[in-house]
Amino acid sequence: MLQKLPHLVAALCILLLPHLSPAAEGKPTLLVDSDNRPSISLDGDWHAVVDPYDNGYLDFRMQARPDGYFLNEKPGKSNKLVEYDFSKSAPLKVPGDWNSQRDSLFFYEGTVWYQKDFQYQRKPGTRTFFHVGAANYLAQVFVNGQKACEHEGGFTPFDCEVTSLVRDGDNFVVIHVNDQRKRDGIPTLNTDWWNYGGLTRDVSLIETPETFVEDYSLQLQKGSDAIIAGWVHVVGASAGMQVTVKIPELNLTQTAASDAQGRAAFSLKAAKLQRWSPRTPKLYDIEIISGKDHLKDSVGFRTIEVRGDDILLNGKSIFLRGISVHAEAPYRSGRAWSQQDAETLLGWARELGANFVRLAHYPHDERMTRLADRMGLLVWSEVPVYWMIEWENPATLANATNQLQEMIRRDRNKASVVLWSVANETPNTPARLAFLKSLIATAHSEDPSRPVTAALLVTTLPDTAEGIRTKVIDDPLGEYLDVLGCNEYIGWYEGQPELAARTRWTSKFNKPLIMSEFGGDAKFGLHGPPDQRWTEEYQENIYRRQIAMLKQIPFLRGLSPWILMDFRSPRRTLPEIQDFYNRKGLVSNEGQKKKAFFMLQEYYKSLAAQEN
Ligand code: GCU
Repeated sequence: MLQKLPHLVAALCILLLPHLSPAAEGKPTLLVDSDNRPSISLDGDWHAVVDPYDNGYLDFRMQARPDGYFLNEKPGKSNKLVEYDFSKSAPLKVPGDWNSQRDSLFFYEGTVWYQKDFQYQRKPGTRTFFHVGAANYLAQVFVNGQKACEHEGGFTPFDCEVTSLVRDGDNFVVIHVNDQRKRDGIPTLNTDWWNYGGLTRDVSLIETPETFVEDYSLQLQKGSDAIIAGWVHVVGASAGMQVTVKIPELNLTQTAASDAQGRAAFSLKAAKLQRWSPRTPKLYDIEIISGKDHLKDSVGFRTIEVRGDDILLNGKSIFLRGISVHAEAPYRSGRAWSQQDAETLLGWARELGANFVRLAHYPHDERMTRLADRMGLLVWSEVPVYWMIEWENPATLANATNQLQEMIRRDRNKASVVLWSVANETPNTPARLAFLKSLIATAHSEDPSRPVTAALLVTTLPDTAEGIRTKVIDDPLGEYLDVLGCNEYIGWYEGQPELAARTRWTSKFNKPLIMSEFGGDAKFGLHGPPDQRWTEEYQENIYRRQIAMLKQIPFLRGLSPWILMDFRSPRRTLPEIQDFYNRKGLVSNEGQKKKAFFMLQEYYKSLAAQEN
């Protein structure tokens, strides 16, 4: 009974929350290109109350408290009993997970209340949004004691309108963040990454005019050399509102009228357009003007498509020399969020000779995709539909769909992002197939310009008498994907590294394959014979054998070995070797490169040389 308590608490919280302040409850929106909007940063120290029993919500009968911690009351101000005091509660840094900030919170999963005072002066004719880059996992935002909005999902941004809640002068915000893992959650109970909780990305106040550009899409039209097509959605716009798109460097300006839903369509003919590619990651400054709103962004234009078992970038076949990456902060560990984290991680990928990164298993900080745009790294971006999800639960599907839509909306205009992934290593059942078909349909309708993939598990046929092992890609989900991803661990979870030499790959589908995971653990600095697990030599041996095997697969169009850097995982407890780290990194969490790093680098260099 006891261990069921946390889920019970979480479930009751969700159930009882609406009663707290029904009036102000709103569904957040997601402002595209928000990092280019005028904003007031609220990053820094926040007071934090660690509240394992959600006492800030529930009284001893587990009934919702009308006077929860969101009211930010001060004890002693009146003789009312107040049993919390933000002003005396030790701070936590934002952005940042709480687990890596305090030893006492290393394993903590539950509720933390964040509080911050701020000064504000609202300008006439503007609207104010409370922007959260990401909060893991459930977040409730209260401004001046009033509920502004709630959000589920730890890896996508949300913007709560607080125009009617902020006041001139002194204000305070309280954010209830709960990272309790939930069976019906996305992700669900079991993951091979640390459940870093908290306000893990930037928090700020964003101002917009009354009517403002909420979302837009500008892409190079497939099959055209120079047509940039797309749309702009203006909130608050009535039919006929003028919207202008400018690309000064291309001497392009076009004005269109919005329809009744505030949407204006564009088709601009761009002479002399330099396409975005890994070699030439050309970004153009663009401007979108509507009424008083003037949004700026920098966008690359390229096409990405699948033809048979090939992937074409700008109409030309491309091989994705990749690496998988977790959003684990190099050197300090914890959830990665900073510009420095992004530059270090993508810098190592570049050093490896990669032109592609699989950002696993959830959308990473927007700094990563912005930087990939500038560096010319192609990106696989994924929602955390991982392992055993509640496939038959409509609320879980709605949650996954929402996270997918948010991921696409935030990075729709990032040229670097070329693949949306809807799942990782999920069981081949009818309920799962229906769930994922729905996500694939959502991805295609939200963004018809990009292929959709997923990381599949494969069928292994019994070895032949000669000892040949055949892998067959026949997962029914493959039918609905544009690009197949496959995870395999020959030499680690399956046999010895040498097994790769006698493994053959076939596919039921005439589609491109990305080997989205392979590899093995090695503790940096541990050396020994190539058949001794955990040594750098064993990991290097796996890579040597894998590369030889992969070269034999005719429909292989890319790979993203597991993984760039060692990362924290609660499932990895082997003392003196793992110590709560998955050690499959080619680089240790302290930035030390293992032998396999150079093995893969050499291979990628040879591939790049062949491209010239
Ligand atoms: C899986 C999974 C990863 C995990 C890896 C491993 O394939 O997708 O999230 O970390 O294997 O076992 O190291």
